Amino acid sequence: MSRRGLIAAIGGLVLLSPVAGSDAARLAAQEGTRSNQDASTYGCIVCHADMRRAFAQGAHAERGIRCHTCHGGDTSQVEVATAHRGRFLGAPSKQATTELCASCHSDPNQMRQYGLAADQLAEFRTSRHGELLLGRGNADAPTCTDCHEAHTIRPANDARSMVHPTNIPRTCGLCHDDAALMRKYGLSVDQLSRFMAGAHGKAIFEDRNFAAPTCIGCHGSHAALPPDVTEIDHVCGKCHVLLADALYAGPHGTPSLTRRIPGCLGCHTNHGTERLPPEQISELCVTCHAAESSMATLGQEIEEQVLHARGELELAAEAIARMVKTGRDVSDERFRYRAAYTAYQQLAKVQHSLDLEQLEDLGREVRSNAAVVRSTAEAYAEERWEHNLLLMPLWFLTLSGVAFAAFKLRELGRVSHG
Ligand code: HEC
Ligand code: HEC
Ligand code: HEC
Ligand code: HEC
Ligand code: HEC
Ligand code: HEC
Ligand code: HEC
Ligand code: HEC
Ligand code: HEC
Repeated sequence: MSRRGLIAAIGGLVLLSPVAGSDAARLAAQEGTRSNQDASTYGCIVCHADMRRAFAQGAHAERGIRCHTCHGGDTSQVEVATAHRGRFLGAPSKQATTELCASCHSDPNQMRQYGLAADQLAEFRTSRHGELLLGRGNADAPTCTDCHEAHTIRPANDARSMVHPTNIPRTCGLCHDDAALMRKYGLSVDQLSRFMAGAHGKAIFEDRNFAAPTCIGCHGSHAALPPDVTEIDHVCGKCHVLLADALYAGPHGTPSLTRRIPGCLGCHTNHGTERLPPEQISELCVTCHAAESSMATLGQEIEEQVLHARGELELAAEAIARMVKTGRDVSDERFRYRAAYTAYQQLAKVQHSLDLEQLEDLGREVRSNAAVVRSTAEAYAEERWEHNLLLMPLWFLTLSGVAFAAFKLRELGRVSHG
């Protein structure tokens, strides 16, 4: 075996070793069909063992991409001076990296077969990040490999990927949680902590509800920009469709369109997104409207509707719990309760329209269903009480029967002994 062949063979084994069985087999099969030129790539990894390990786990290794595809160099050599020769690019700068990645990822012909878009660099250019890096040559901005790593690049649906939904907040936080870095741009560093504590963070990290947005759900991944005030309703409305429709149908529709209210953010926050407690509805209205205005009165009426409905719902839940304790079948009541609960959820959405009439209808639906559950529970409790009452004489008779029998037995015993 020639020296070159030996290097290729050793390198091949080393490159393949950490890959899982089936992947290794596939890679080996790929290598077998390839020319010497590809096999000789392994010259690089004789020295760069750590890169080899990292790279073998990523998505690129599987597609026949090798060190020299990105770095160039002479892959048949095992000495630094000769290996780093020819078209050797070394480690690309942050700016050059975008072009390197885009050499494949901006080519729709190459990307189509993998079902991947070819717009990442084009989008990136339009983002605040891209403007800073490419427009002003400032390396504080992220380049492709800050969010994807350079060697262990994994698709977003891989839980280990930096861009998997559960890892995105941390990836953005690498810079956006760095106070010294962000101070230079007059940006705060509260986004990550507030997001994690807010409704969206909890939905993802506690309920594993991946329909909730991570940072990119509102900012986009490559086109990361803060949504401008004119886009906020659109950003939130992408997912909260019914709610945005309700808002626009009501009196806050026009002031939202004319930007006198910053849309949803007039009442909710972007990063600490919270469900506002219904007890605060009327207080909320007077942050913008005068306390004696008709708007404030409307706010109180809405609050009453919501609180009343919620109270009825809680009583119905307690009634069901009491029935369950005594072992009664409550499937009918649960069905009723669900109907009431659904109407209550509707209420929370529809109140965005400030349409009191519609709210009253929904409130009635909650209350009537809840009332049926409660009256069933009450009737049942009464029935049980009466039942127990009826049983009392029976118990009395049985007990006296037993006592009488015992007495009789003892008497009999005394007679036989005597
Ligand atoms: C004989 C060992 C050896 C071989 C073979 C080798 N390298 Fe290197 N490489 C090194 C050493 C040592 C350094 C760090 C010193 C330096 O930058 O010269 C390095 C540095 C690098 C860097 C970083 C350069 C920078 O600008 O910071 C890259 C990229 C690189 N090698 C790629 C490759 C590629 C691609 C191949 C195969 C074509 C290869 N190397 C083959 C030893 C080797
Ligand atoms: C998809 C393109 C790509 C491939 C393939 C690739 N690299 Fe890199 N490599 C990069 C980029 C980009 C950098 C610049 C550093 C960064 O962005 O983190 C880099 C940096 C390096 C460095 C400098 C050390 C460092 O971390 O800064 C070395 C050494 C290196 N690569 C070796 C290799 C070896 C060996 C292979 C094959 C196993 C390889 N690379 C495959 C893109 C690639
Ligand atoms: C030589 C062409 C080429 C270069 C250069 C290249 N890629 Fe890729 N990339 C691919 C191919 C092919 C895939 C595999 C697609 C697949 O397996 O679905 C891929 C996959 C990916 C994926 C996973 C996509 C997914 O969700 O399935 C990411 C992320 C990625 N590349 C980012 C980068 C970054 C960042 C760089 C620059 C450091 C880069 N690529 C350089 C060709 C390339
Ligand atoms: C600020 C972080 C960040 C930067 C910078 C970044 N990406 Fe991404 N990228 C992501 C995130 C997050 C995803 C996952 C998107 C998703 O799940 O919808 C992603 C997804 C991808 C994908 C998978 C296909 C797709 O579009 O969803 C490719 C390919 C990709 N990026 C390439 C690149 C390239 C090339 C660059 C540099 C021009 C780059 N990325 C820069 C965060 C980034
Ligand atoms: C490598 C560091 C780095 C990473 C990683 C990073 N950013 Fe940034 N980001 C910056 C810097 C620096 C700026 C300031 C740009 C400016 O103001 O010109 C910025 C600006 C922004 C802005 C614009 C803020 C404003 O009002 O000017 C948004 C939005 C943003 N980033 C979102 C994200 C998201 C989302 C992620 C993760 C997918 C992310 N960033 C990852 C460094 C980073
Ligand atoms: C529910 C949507 C949403 C999510 C999720 C979200 N943002 Fe934002 N973000 C916004 C909006 C809207 C603005 C603009 C606020 C404004 O103009 O008042 C903004 C502004 C920003 C800014 C500019 C500075 C600031 O605080 O106003 C940065 C940086 C930023 N977001 C980063 C992030 C990061 C990092 C994450 C993930 C941890 C994230 N965002 C998650 C909607 C969101
Ligand atoms: C990518 C889709 C998506 C985007 C964009 C989005 N949300 Fe959400 N939001 C969700 C999901 C999913 C939940 C959790 C499920 C639930 O509880 O309704 C949620 C929960 C909420 C909650 C708490 C609801 C509750 O019952 O606890 C509020 C309030 C909220 N979002 C407001 C907003 C605002 C304001 C914006 C824009 C700044 C926004 N959302 C953008 C999907 C999204
Ligand atoms: C005028 C103030 C106001 C505006 C503007 C507003 N909300 Fe709300 N939102 C509330 C109040 C108050 C509640 C709590 C209602 C309740 O619990 O009954 C709420 C509740 C919610 C909920 C939880 C409802 C549920 O289904 O569980 C979501 C989600 C939500 N808002 C999203 C949005 C979105 C998206 C926008 C913009 C399209 C928006 N809000 C605009 C005041 C507002
Ligand atoms: C973020 C500020 C803000 C909050 C909070 C707010 N509003 Fe408004 N509201 C406005 C603005 C601005 C207008 C448009 C006023 C105008 O056209 O003169 C408006 C208009 C209205 C109108 C229509 C008035 C008219 O004359 O056409 C009603 C009704 C109303 N709001 C009720 C409420 C109620 C009820 C609440 C509490 C649930 C509330 N608003 C909370 C800002 C707010």
